[in-house]
Amino acid sequence: MERLKGKVAFITGVARGQGRAHAVRLASEGADIVGIDICENIDSMNYPLSSEADLAETVKLVEQQGRKMIGVKGDVRSREQLASAIDRGMKELGRLDIVVANAGIIAGKADTYMASGFVEVSDIDLIGAMNTVAASLPHLKEGASIIITGSTAGMMKGMTENVGVATGGAAYGWSKRILISYVETLALQLAPYMVRLNGVHPTNCNTHLLHNVDVYRAFRPDLENPTREDAMPVLPLMQAMPIPFIEPEDISALIAFLASDDGRYITGLNIRVDAGALLKTPPTER
Ligand SMILES: NC(=O)c1ccc[n+]([C@@H]2O[C@H](COP(=O)([O-])OP(=O)(O)OC[C@H]3O[C@@H](n4cnc5c(N)ncnc54)[C@H](O)[C@@H]3O)[C@@H](O)[C@H]2O)c1
Repeated sequence: MERLKGKVAFITGVARGQGRAHAVRLASEGADIVGIDICENIDSMNYPLSSEADLAETVKLVEQQGRKMIGVKGDVRSREQLASAIDRGMKELGRLDIVVANAGIIAGKADTYMASGFVEVSDIDLIGAMNTVAASLPHLKEGASIIITGSTAGMMKGMTENVGVATGGAAYGWSKRILISYVETLALQLAPYMVRLNGVHPTNCNTHLLHNVDVYRAFRPDLENPTREDAMPVLPLMQAMPIPFIEPEDISALIAFLASDDGRYITGLNIRVDAGALLKTPPTER
């Protein structure tokens, strides 16, 4: 299938996890890729972010699909770095058709002073996504498709208004919740230009963002330092279908559809890929 032949996609958080899977899937359908990733750790966080070797591996995997990829080390908190990566893509690949605002982090350390963990997470998960859209818009034309990665965490009650949730975790749920209305509100403004904007909302997904002690602790609050082995029996409780998590490629399939002309009249939607998680959890009021 070459649904994306001749198109160029810009993807954030592209070095590993879902971002990498999206790059490979979109390339397999014919798109060239421009991708950005921080490729360094954030000191206050309990789990490592990507490395330059991860980014190089994504580039290699895209090239194996017979497509071009420009991989840039950069931070979604910097609109200048985003703009410069996109400018490079425009110069070398000539156009921009698809934007995937995917980069994200979950809970920073719980003991950060004066809720600095809240600022850190929302700077990346909310403002980083908005920066990505802002830097991309000047280059988009009729038929373009923007996709933002939210989370079912933004749709569930109790994620932000519960003092038991760590500061960074509250910022995560809140950022993802705000992105839902951002998608609906901005999609209406973009529709007259025939540019589409949608949100995709994964449940537990098999990446580093899930497999770290902060998230394991949310599933096993009875243990101080729960391991993957401790969390595994509890992870399926999140979904209605009896699985612990989905795979990055399950999100990529939806991204490829929304990016392609198959989705040409789909805009302003927030779509869950959650194995029924929201069917068994009270949704948040917005
Ligand atoms: N894994 C899950 O269970 C899950 C569930 C729901 C939503 N999500 C969302 O999916 C998206 C992708 O995460 P993932 O699951 O692939 O996790 P991941 O940690 O494997 O990948 C996230 C990528 O974003 C990059 N990144 C982080 N901060 C950045 C910054 N400031 N600038 C540029 N790049 C940055 C990281 O280096 C990493 O490569 C995130 O938005 C996340 O919130 C994940």
